[in-house]
Amino acid sequence: MSIKNASIHGQWSSRWGFMLAAIGSAVGLGNIWRFPYLVGENGGGIFVLVYLACVLLVGIPIMIAEILLGRRGRQNPVNTMQSLANQESLSRHWGLLGWMGVGAGFIIVSYYSVIAGWTLAYIFRVGAGVFVDADVLVAKQVFVTLISDPEKLLAWHTIFIMLAVIVIARGVEKGLENTVKILMPMLFFLLLLMVAYAMSTEKFFEGLHYLFIPNQEHLANKDFFSDILLPALGQAFFSLSIGMGAIMAYGSYLSNKTSIVFSCFTIAIADTVVALLAGIAIFPIVFTYGLEPASGPGLIFMTLPIAFGQMPFGTFFGCLFFILLLFAAWTSAISLLEPAVAWAVENCNISRIKATAWVGILAWLFGLLTVLSLNHWAFSFQFAGVVKENGLFDLFDIVASNFLLPLGGLLIAVFAGWFMRKQSTLAELDIGNGWVYQCWYFAIRYIAPLGLLIIFLNAVGLF
Ligand code: PHE
Repeated sequence: MSIKNASIHGQWSSRWGFMLAAIGSAVGLGNIWRFPYLVGENGGGIFVLVYLACVLLVGIPIMIAEILLGRRGRQNPVNTMQSLANQESLSRHWGLLGWMGVGAGFIIVSYYSVIAGWTLAYIFRVGAGVFVDADVLVAKQVFVTLISDPEKLLAWHTIFIMLAVIVIARGVEKGLENTVKILMPMLFFLLLLMVAYAMSTEKFFEGLHYLFIPNQEHLANKDFFSDILLPALGQAFFSLSIGMGAIMAYGSYLSNKTSIVFSCFTIAIADTVVALLAGIAIFPIVFTYGLEPASGPGLIFMTLPIAFGQMPFGTFFGCLFFILLLFAAWTSAISLLEPAVAWAVENCNISRIKATAWVGILAWLFGLLTVLSLNHWAFSFQFAGVVKENGLFDLFDIVASNFLLPLGGLLIAVFAGWFMRKQSTLAELDIGNGWVYQCWYFAIRYIAPLGLLIIFLNAVGLF
């Protein structure tokens, strides 16, 4: 059992309250925007298969460890790691792990907010009927016009940061639970509707085939480690919200009675199902309309509106879809900032509202870099065998999700598997020393750290 019973920031009202908040954090732009475009850029069915393996073998064990640490420490990630290290008679430098997470959260939220801004913009474009009977050219044109206009991007980015700040300022429980309880199931149903539309297109099976059947051809000119495994691993961390303390902070508000293992499986399954549904909805449209699967970050903004333009009541459903996507992004952005806000409240002796305002301003400022990198400051470079055209934005995304999050995950695994006493993890998970615990313990001690290490060493070119 945890040493402390509750965090000073409050606690989830029930097990479902926590689960919904964690699902709200996990399900977001990562599933619907990022997953499909990475599948398209990095090897189709092979990428999907490797991604699923990463979620199961590395993602879930690390999520369990991260929540376990959060609940045992009951503070923000920096202080949690320091005090756990203290309890286990280890160096206070473990607090750096928390700092790394706070930093990664800032980097991610800075561009996350800009992409969420695209979503906001699309609510109005789809709602105004811009895409009725539109073809690929129109869809591309609308997207390119939007991202070439820094003023518009800035305005949407600003609105989104303000939305996030309002919810965080209200506190974790009040601000979050209700939003997620109603809107997440609605998003799920709309995705099913999109899948139904995809089934009516000519190339439905081609899309499914592309997603689920690994094809040697997609490996052509690609290096398995750096072009498929590394981005798939990064996506698993990004999508599950692990490796940066977001889920650790949520774990610190979790009651001692809730089962961590059961919750983690539920969260991971929900997250994965949403990502796969998004893929099933998008790729048939990509093939039917002759789009390029490797169209990059604009992929869903250039495909889904075409579908809405064709289907009955498309303007209504399209508008609703982007509204729900906005909510999904909103509940994720909150968790990206929560570690920083909790840190400021605990260490700077300021109110939650003030802390949120400062964190919000910083995140907003950072976001300006992404806004400009999509137009005036754009430059291109190559990563994972793909040409990236949006300079700093792509760079932030790559550094945070492919390096900082997995590195955070590696340290979490090493801490929970090797440095913490076994009796501490046994007590906190509270599931006895049976096969479930043994499997987790093996994964967190060997599979996750070794897997991550091999991928890292490869990424820096050591073999
Ligand atoms: N998981 C979120 C998404 O898929 C993004 C996120 C990453 C949130 C890391 C918190 C921490 O959109």
